[in-house]
Amino acid sequence: MDIHNKVFVVTGAARGLGAAISKGLASKGANLALVDQNKELLDKSLKSYKNHKSEIKAYQANVSVEEDVIKLFDKIINDFGQIDGLVNNAGILKDGLLIKTKDKKIISKMSLHDWQSVIDVNLTGVFLCGREAAEKMIELGLEGCIINMSSISKKGNFGQSNYSAAKAGVVALTSVWAKELARYNIRVNAIAPGFVNTEMVANMNPEVLKKGIEKVPLKRLCTPDEIAHTAIYIFENEYLDGSVIEIDGGPR
Ligand SMILES: NC(=O)c1ccc[n+]([C@@H]2O[C@H](COP(=O)([O-])OP(=O)(O)OC[C@H]3O[C@@H](n4cnc5c(N)ncnc54)[C@H](O)[C@@H]3O)[C@@H](O)[C@H]2O)c1
Repeated sequence: MDIHNKVFVVTGAARGLGAAISKGLASKGANLALVDQNKELLDKSLKSYKNHKSEIKAYQANVSVEEDVIKLFDKIINDFGQIDGLVNNAGILKDGLLIKTKDKKIISKMSLHDWQSVIDVNLTGVFLCGREAAEKMIELGLEGCIINMSSISKKGNFGQSNYSAAKAGVVALTSVWAKELARYNIRVNAIAPGFVNTEMVANMNPEVLKKGIEKVPLKRLCTPDEIAHTAIYIFENEYLDGSVIEIDGGPR
């Protein structure tokens, strides 16, 4: 796919990986629908594109709310007339042990709220945005490409029952959609990053992060630009479908 002049929807676009991917696409002449639930961050982010010639618009929406997502994609089609690519990137963390003990006594367990809120954003949000984007692409007869953001925690990370389950689910959706949507010329791939230097990682427990980096063969965090580069590669390479690109600094 030639990115120039195409229309891309990026969720969680106001900061971190979503912002880096959006900037990477804008630098190649893409038109962008920047989606985020944080209006203040979104407005700030939109201002940073003022020198770009392509059309860039911001949309406040919660990707886990079906009504919001349906209205969002209707509005994007109304504004741009087409959607060629989607980056299903919005995500949250609410880490915690399934069961936490001290002196052999149970002191807490993962709450249903912490489980459900991560599943709602990181898995249901991907489902809803992917479904709506695919519907628009099929209705308009457009060739398209969807990128779902997974994580290396899809294999099961300590303290991440909710996050790991959602990110493994995202890989399953990627595989199903690649099989179901190829007949409409819609490709679906996933990126599974290791630790990337974003605000999400900055908010992690420093000890857990330090131990995580020690296990990375390249001994450093990934940069958001390295993820943006991967997203651009996926959009441009038209034979890549149903793949999960692990970009994690080497095998553990
Ligand atoms: N940073 C990492 O190390 C890393 C590693 C692997 C995977 N990921 C995944 O990459 C994605 C982006 O991560 P990041 O580090 O940039 O995170 P981040 O917290 O820096 O940014 C996430 C963005 O998503 C938005 N968002 C959150 N919930 C939303 C919702 N319900 N609706 C709309 N927008 C919402 C936030 O407002 C924020 O702007 C996430 O899916 C994350 O799980 C990140």
